[in-house]
Amino acid sequence: MTRRAVIEGAGHYLPDRIVPNSEFEKTLDTTDEWIRTRSGIERRRFAAEGQTTSDLALRAARAALEQAGLVPEDIDGVIVATSTPDLTFPSVATMVQKDLGMTHGFGFDVQAVCAGFIYALTTANALILTGQANRLLVIGAETFSRIMDWTDRSTCVLFGDGAGALILGAQDGEGSNADRGILSSDLNSDGRYRDMLYVDGGVSSTGTAGKLRMQGNPLFRQAVEKLTSTAETALAKIGLSGPDVDWIVPHQANIRIIQGTAKKMGLPMDRVIVTVQDHGNTSAASIPLAMSVGVAEGRIKPGDLVLSEAIGGGLAWGAVVMRW
Ligand code: ACO
Repeated sequence: MTRRAVIEGAGHYLPDRIVPNSEFEKTLDTTDEWIRTRSGIERRRFAAEGQTTSDLALRAARAALEQAGLVPEDIDGVIVATSTPDLTFPSVATMVQKDLGMTHGFGFDVQAVCAGFIYALTTANALILTGQANRLLVIGAETFSRIMDWTDRSTCVLFGDGAGALILGAQDGEGSNADRGILSSDLNSDGRYRDMLYVDGGVSSTGTAGKLRMQGNPLFRQAVEKLTSTAETALAKIGLSGPDVDWIVPHQANIRIIQGTAKKMGLPMDRVIVTVQDHGNTSAASIPLAMSVGVAEGRIKPGDLVLSEAIGGGLAWGAVVMRW
């Protein structure tokens, strides 16, 4: 018998306000056509004034609990992947824990920017496999609209707000790749790439939240190479390769990065869940959002082999392989 962290439910929440590319044409030297062809993004959601990351996270958590047929009493802990917390502290996770009415268990945040959900899933898997917890709520939630420089056309058209959540529960498997649950993961970071993607403010430097800065083109080239390599490493750890995968659920930053990575792995685009056109880049929320959409649309089904990969500020990148 091998203990596994199995996906028991998925849910998501998107703020009401839909912002089409054409909105940016009014204030910036940009076009719907440029944004669509260079990034694949057609629209994104922005949180309402006063709506915080924990508000989005809570709604995604409730949706995942409902989908799993579970209640907060069934959950041992909450992990939130985010780079845009409501406050410097306490964590978003403890806010969600309180709002769910949980006075038991634990909560903490994970910060690995767009790779945050991969890091959070890997952490949750380790906590479950070592018996620290039997059931965890793992959330990716962001309000990147709060750290945009609205005069910088090369970044502000790319990001959106949202949240997605998974529930992972302990189950016994046979120790083979046929088991449901997380089967493998691969984590990487390299701080030498810091200037490629960062926020120019923070608690111990400027005392402000800062704005996102990105060298898009060099990052693009790093992304395709590093995403393919981490995905192949995560699969190779369990003796699998690209063609074994039923669904890639990638980080949704740019359709051309998603297409390039799928092509390098030998997988057709009809086996990739793509939501970037509707959500933009929601950083750590993008993977659980896309997973929840894939489940709700009846595409991802129990038993499917799902590969997720992401790269973001740090640079930090990684991949997780799971059988749904
Ligand atoms: N509208 C019109 N023109 C624009 C815009 C815009 N919104 N933004 C940039 N341009 C211009 C540039 O100024 C440049 O003009 P120039 O040639 O006169 O200098 C031209 O378009 C081409 O710019 P590039 O940056 O070379 O365009 P590229 O094809 O690389 O696409 C993009 C840009 C979409 C940003 C792409 O590089 C990308 O997606 N990069 C990776 C993003 C990513 O993966 N981020 C990681 C995760 S994010 C996270 O962790 C928070």
